[in-house]
Amino acid sequence: MTQDELKKAVGWAALQYVEPGTIVGVGTGSTAAHFIDALSTMKNQIEGAVSSSEASTEKLKALGIHIFDLNEIDELSVYVDGADEINPQMQMIKGGGAALTREKIVAAVAKKFVCIADASKEVDVLGHFPLPVEVIPMARSYVARELVKLGGLPEYRQNVITDNGNIILDVHNLRILDPIKLEKTINALPGVVTVGLFAGRGADVALIGTAEGVKTIVK
Ligand code: A5P
Repeated sequence: MTQDELKKAVGWAALQYVEPGTIVGVGTGSTAAHFIDALSTMKNQIEGAVSSSEASTEKLKALGIHIFDLNEIDELSVYVDGADEINPQMQMIKGGGAALTREKIVAAVAKKFVCIADASKEVDVLGHFPLPVEVIPMARSYVARELVKLGGLPEYRQNVITDNGNIILDVHNLRILDPIKLEKTINALPGVVTVGLFAGRGADVALIGTAEGVKTIVK
């Protein structure tokens, strides 16, 4: 199976976590795009969706799914999204698609985070995938210097402006042995909007696409 077929398999498998009559939290990326295709088959059974990016919003709307503003609602039953890496503790690196801030916000509101990923995203230790950090533009150099002090090699993601008008630093050379501590440390730097470490709030369920089928891991 190709990587995209594995992504498709988990995107469709996530439909089982969608409760009829609810508003669904929807992530961003190529795996989440398969979930959106699957979700459109239930569009008459759900109230609509809260989206984590302009790209997903556009796709959801094109398929006839109503978009809610997160401020209109109190609670989401489920948030379904991909990941760039996921470890056995269900902590993740996210933000390869630059949508990390809205992803973290929508995930925070959801009762259950369902991570959908192909098997290449499973790792023992997070950090091989460069860690995305969304930064307010004027703080770029300062935050980069602080990230170097933490042992990272930050790289400015050229030609990318987030949906929130900020820039992304991708931090290479990290071996993240204490994800919760690093998440707090980077989040505390002035100018950092969000770090793409989802450690304090990791996934509750992971659906992993393998050649043998979809593997389900429950926290
Ligand atoms: C988007 O900002 C990311 O967090 C994605 O969820 C992540 O990059 C996974 O993307 P793919 O599903 O495209 O691999």
